[in-house]
Amino acid sequence: MAHSNDRAVWLKGPQAVCSAPPAGNGKAWRLVLLGAPGVGKGTQAELLAERLGSCHLSTGDVFRAARSLPAEERSPALNEAIACMQRGELVSDETVLSLVRERSTCLKCRGGFLLDGFPRTVPQAEALDGLLKELGVGLDAVVNYDLPIEAIVARLGGRRTCSQCKAVYHVTARPPRQEGVCDHCGGELIVREDDRPEAIRVRMETYERSTRPLIDYYAAKGLLRTVSAEGSVEEILERTLSALRVEAR
Ligand code: AP5
Repeated sequence: MAHSNDRAVWLKGPQAVCSAPPAGNGKAWRLVLLGAPGVGKGTQAELLAERLGSCHLSTGDVFRAARSLPAEERSPALNEAIACMQRGELVSDETVLSLVRERSTCLKCRGGFLLDGFPRTVPQAEALDGLLKELGVGLDAVVNYDLPIEAIVARLGGRRTCSQCKAVYHVTARPPRQEGVCDHCGGELIVREDDRPEAIRVRMETYERSTRPLIDYYAAKGLLRTVSAEGSVEEILERTLSALRVEAR
């Protein structure tokens, strides 16, 4: 399935129009992807979006897209969010939740959704439950990717991200066809500011303190599917599909 959706509503806000919204044939998968920073959630989300037709909704991508807005178009809350992200700290629940609520049409998208990087705290997860209830949709599963910390740090050290479409590469494990250039849109590949060693340390500590408790939260609801994130991206994709009981092609 071709994945040409530009996620405009999610990345730019409700005034935008998606260029190619998911077609909505077959099951609309509604998933949360959990796991430590750098475990490979964004990479798997891209592949799952192609395979399942669901839209990849990353809160980190929204903040990174907002950073390229002219200063006069950024609210004080958005400037504070961008500063938090650069330090590797979490953006406040209030800011994240208002951003997600503004984009709630994406949660009702006929193709389904893959939430990546949200929720990240128990209050965010509770708020998501309330929002989905209001919208009349439910989660199918929460995929928790698991990997030892040394492997995660190696993944973050080699990451390159497209400055335009946000596609994710790795210098050795997932290189682009042409060095420094995105395969999808030709955009420039850059190193994320929060992939500096001091920001990585803060992000890992924050994950342990604020996000890891979500594993128990979703296990208690019977939604958790833990998947090993070791091996190639294709192996992890197959493990994920099998955990979701999606039939092989
Ligand atoms: P966000 O953008 O969500 O970042 P993150 O959670 O830190 O996750 P990453 O994007 O770093 O990693 P990933 O798991 O997606 O891994 P990837 O696929 O890129 O958030 C950024 C910031 O925004 C936060 O720190 C916070 O400030 C703020 N924020 C966002 N949401 C928030 C929220 N809800 N609440 C509060 N604050 C929020 O893979 C990593 C690398 O590994 C890549 O180079 C990839 O090519 C490579 N790789 C992937 N798979 C493999 C493999 N199998 N083998 C080898 N290499 C691989």
